[in-house]
Amino acid sequence: MLTFEVDDPRAAIFLDPARSVDPVRWHELADEVRATDPVFRVEHDWVEPFYVLTTHEDVFEVSRHNDLWHNTRRSVLMPKMQDQMLEAMGLSPHSLVHMDGHEHAVHRKVTNDWFKPAAVKKRQGAIGEIADAFVERMREMGGECDFAQDIAVPYTLHVIMDIYGVPPEDEPKMLELTQGMFGAADPEFMGDMSDPFGAVVETIEGFREYFGEMTADRRRCPTDDLATVIANGEVDGCPLGDTQELWYYIIVATAGHDTTSYGLSGGMQALLEHPEQMEALREDPSLATNATEEIVRWTSPVRQFLRYAQADTEIRGVPVAEGERVLLSYPAANRDPAVFDEPHRFDITRPDASKLIGFGVGAHYCLGSQFARREISTMLPKLLEAFDDIQLAGEPLWAEANFVGGVKHLPITYRLR
Ligand code: HEM
Repeated sequence: MLTFEVDDPRAAIFLDPARSVDPVRWHELADEVRATDPVFRVEHDWVEPFYVLTTHEDVFEVSRHNDLWHNTRRSVLMPKMQDQMLEAMGLSPHSLVHMDGHEHAVHRKVTNDWFKPAAVKKRQGAIGEIADAFVERMREMGGECDFAQDIAVPYTLHVIMDIYGVPPEDEPKMLELTQGMFGAADPEFMGDMSDPFGAVVETIEGFREYFGEMTADRRRCPTDDLATVIANGEVDGCPLGDTQELWYYIIVATAGHDTTSYGLSGGMQALLEHPEQMEALREDPSLATNATEEIVRWTSPVRQFLRYAQADTEIRGVPVAEGERVLLSYPAANRDPAVFDEPHRFDITRPDASKLIGFGVGAHYCLGSQFARREISTMLPKLLEAFDDIQLAGEPLWAEANFVGGVKHLPITYRLR
């Protein structure tokens, strides 16, 4: 099992997944970094050094200057050894978030139409039906559940698998694979960690096997699902390469699931901890759209991405040489007092909620943001209509994760209306 021993607690919050379990303390330290050292250099034996960006302005500016700042094949922070090992084995990730320039643009185009607002709007009926089924499941559970694991995880998984065309009986397999991917650092979801690198390799192979069969099937018998689009996708007039195709499936499956599930469970936690906000939403379901923006700002399920300077440059007077890298801290940027009034106040009516940067910005702006928004804004009003007296029934537990994370157990009780 990998453990990070980091002396400086301010550096630790960006390196050590275990620091995410206490979001209040995490934000106190992030506030300190933003106020004193907004371009904060982190050095540690486990990783190549990087600068952390904690202000909204810096995260925004770096994200949108895609020529100067590249994602590269190493846009997700991982231990040096893991990076090197995956590269040596020819398994380095090669998804949209690991591409730049023309390569990124042509690959994104393969599925882009599927994720446009009008296309996603057409799936509103299907999302609503899936949400209804999970409200029903909560009813059957009789007034008590772990909202994160019993509802948020399977609901968001089902929506994305429905889009893909993965049959419901394969969803447990998909859950296992997405949780075994690079996003999940929490020991609870990682299974046997005596060989952490072996586990990552095994997960990639599991995806390769599953989606390999799916590709062959969709090439033989195309349907109207997203898997068919990826299986038959072309870039510059040629079929997608095998590696790019595999990673396309992986990024949409992983990015489309854990992120939104943590958004929904974290949103529910925030509403439980701010009962007046829950009542406001119950009374006026039209607040759900702004509430969803606020929830994504508040929870920031994607915690970080890296960018690499393509030329010597500087940020706030700090020189950054060509090839050096910066870490975009979305949770820190989403609580920047320069942009958000009283940033540590959860308020579903806040007028500045839409300034959130939790979906990124620029060429890599979250492809699935429209789905994520609809999933959350559809589910919450339905829950509040169906149930009264929703209460916390135990301590919320946050996942150990420095890439994608949030509340992983949320015990609640509720009364049927
Ligand atoms: C609350 C839920 C979500 C959050 C907070 C989130 C956040 C993000 C962030 C921060 C990025 C990187 C943006 C950047 O570099 O500027 C991203 C990229 C991406 N997201 Fe999401 N996401 C969510 C849900 C989803 C869903 C539901 C899907 C798929 C259905 C999805 C698919 C993707 C993909 C494919 C990319 C890569 C885009 C690219 O590099 O061009 N995400 N997301």
